[in-house]
This record gives sequence, structure tokens and C-alpha cells, in this order.
Amino acid sequence: MTNPSQDKTPLLEVDELAVDYGLKGVSSRAIDCVSFALRAGEAVGLVGESGSGKTTTAMAIAGLLSPNARVSSGEVRYRGNRLPIDDDAAMRPHRWSETSVVFQGAMNALNPVHRILKQIAEPCMLKLRMSRSEATARARELLELVGIPADRGAAYPHELSGGMRQRVMIAMALACRPSIVIGDEPTTALDVITQAQILKLLGELRSQLNLALILITHDLSVVAEACDRVMIMYSGRIVEDGTVAEIFAQPKHPYTRLLIESIPNPASGKKMIRPIPGDPPNLVNRPSGCAFHPRCPSAMAVCATEVPSLDKFGQGHVACHLHRFSQKDRVAAHA
Ligand SMILES: Nc1ncnc2c1ncn2[C@@H]1O[C@H](COP(=O)(O)OP(=O)(O)OP(=O)(O)O)[C@@H](O)[C@H]1O
Ligand code: SF4
Ligand SMILES: [Mg+2]
Repeated sequence: MTNPSQDKTPLLEVDELAVDYGLKGVSSRAIDCVSFALRAGEAVGLVGESGSGKTTTAMAIAGLLSPNARVSSGEVRYRGNRLPIDDDAAMRPHRWSETSVVFQGAMNALNPVHRILKQIAEPCMLKLRMSRSEATARARELLELVGIPADRGAAYPHELSGGMRQRVMIAMALACRPSIVIGDEPTTALDVITQAQILKLLGELRSQLNLALILITHDLSVVAEACDRVMIMYSGRIVEDGTVAEIFAQPKHPYTRLLIESIPNPASGKKMIRPIPGDPPNLVNRPSGCAFHPRCPSAMAVCATEVPSLDKFGQGHVACHLHRFSQKDRVAAHA
């Protein structure tokens, strides 16, 4: 699905980004060489197993990294201007008004003792400097936008269903009129029907407000529903990106192929998730060369020593030695 109103200039550019975490005196690289561009109105999925660096990428973009994180190289540009992502105070004017985040399980973070209308009005007063009555009117408007009747604003969070609470979180994320919304597993805690409703809502908001969307998930089928493009992360790096149609029809990276094969498909008799054999690598002991080589059914000798670069392939990119060698060279690389 491509939004016809898409602007051709990148709204966001992430360029060779690397983030390290310091823990008990040891520094480990969580993401490395992460590069991509996002255009206005575009929806991109960021997919990978637990620990692959999806949240770290999102937090870096929003300038919300934890205090033990360090941006070791690279930069993030918004409309061509470098963002001060490692400076909390300098990021304040950008955060929520340009890029906002709907966090994993965020619906449980609503304040239980305040009515939801008040909680949505608060950021409008703080960030947009609205008066209380203006902010209340804006909060009512936002509630209607996410499909909740404005009069329900008098409710406390515990009086709402999980799906409604997640809609409230989306309303709060939209309060300062951002042009980018990052959803970090925004539907994980919800049942499948509510999950489909929230994805539909995000899609509608996207075309209504020309929002760019980064959707973080473990689940490739969520991306197929809601995104134009997909980026596959493994052990802190993007290993493949492309259009959703291209990735599903012709995955080029062995990890992407296994991820697609792991999705249940009742039509073909595959009812259960088929997990990828082996464990994701940990940060401190990352395998040499291609980090996927201990689990890869196509690994060659070169894979254990050389990190494959992310090269252009078709409409996307892939980081895999299989696609860098001719047939003859591949035989030699296996030796
Ligand atoms: N504050 C932190 N301090 C130290 N290490 C961290 C911190 N936050 C994340 N990490 C590590 O960085 C790596 C990437 O974590 P991240 O949360 O970005 O992964 P993720 O892809 O979002 O995983 P999940 O799907 O489980 O949410 C992991 O190995 C994680 O343990
Ligand atoms: S580089 Fe080698 S180990 Fe890595 S995915 Fe490609 S074939 Fe497999
Ligand atoms: Mg995460």
C-alpha cells in the first residue's frame, strides 16, 4: 500500500548509527551501522527477534536512550537537520512534537487516579502552551480521532478495555501533532481482533494526517497488514530491507526466509509458529563475521570471518555473502 500523498524528500534519515550500553564497566554495542530513510506518510516495519536492537533504534531516534547508553557514531537528521539525540535538554523541543512513541505495554502506564481527558490535555498544555479550556477541547478532538466518543473522557483508565487504553495512548502520542509516530510493539498485549482494530486505526490516522509510521514488531504478519516497507534486524544490524511485497515474495537473506517460514499458515496446514533453530546471539559474545552464521543453513567459510555489508539489491538492500559472490566464487568460499 503506497500513500499517494507521500513526499519524496526524506523526513527522517538515520545514518550509520551505533549505540553502546555500559553495564558493570563493560561496554557492548547494541546497534551498529543502522541506516535508513523515512518519507512523510510512509509506514515502515522494523522486525527482528528479541534483543536485536529494535527498541534501541527507536529510542535513539526519539532521543530517549537510557542514561547508560552512548551514541558512538552516526547521526539522525530530521528534515535535513542533525538532531541532538544524545542531549536530553536539547532534544526536548523535538520530542513528541516531531517524533512521538507509543511504547510496548504503554497502556498500563496511564495514571490510574486521573480521568483520561485530563491525561490527554496535559501534554497539550505543557508542549503547545494551550490554556486549560483549549487543551480540553483538543483532548476531546483527539479522543474522537482515535474512535472514542469524547464523553468517555470522563472515565478512569480502569473503566476502559485494553484496546481503548491503547487508543488513548495513541491520542496522547498525537497530541503535539508529530509527523512521525513510532509504535514499539503497540499491539502485542492485545487479542487478535483488537490488534487488527488498532492497526486499522493507525493506517487511517496515517493517511488522514500524512503521518510517517515506524512499526516495531516480532511479527512479520503485522507488517504485511500495515506497512509499505520492512527492515529486518539481526543482532543490532539491518540485514535486509525492501518493499513488503518484495520481501514476502522473494526474501534474500536466509534469516528473513526463516522468519517468513516461521509464520503459521493454516491454509497450507502449518498451524503453529515454527521457531528458528538456535538462539539469538548475546551482545557480549557476538559471533565473528556474519552474526547469523552459527544458525544459518547456507553459511560458508567466509561467513565466520567477514561481516557482510548491506548492499543494494532489487528495490531494497541485503547484507549476506550469498549475494556478493558469483556461483564460481561461492564454491571457493565454501572451501
Ligand atoms: N538499558 C540497557 N542497558 C544495557 N543493555 C541494554 C539496555 N537496553 C537494552 N539493552 C540490550 O541491548 C540489546 C538490544 O535491546 P533492545 O531492547 O533494543 O532489543 P529489542 O529488539 O527491542 O528486543 P525486544 O523484542 O525484546 O523488545 C539487548 O541485548 C539488550 O539486552
Ligand atoms: S552471510 Fe553467510 S551466514 Fe550470514 S546469512 Fe549470508 S550465508 Fe548465512
Ligand atoms: Mg523492544
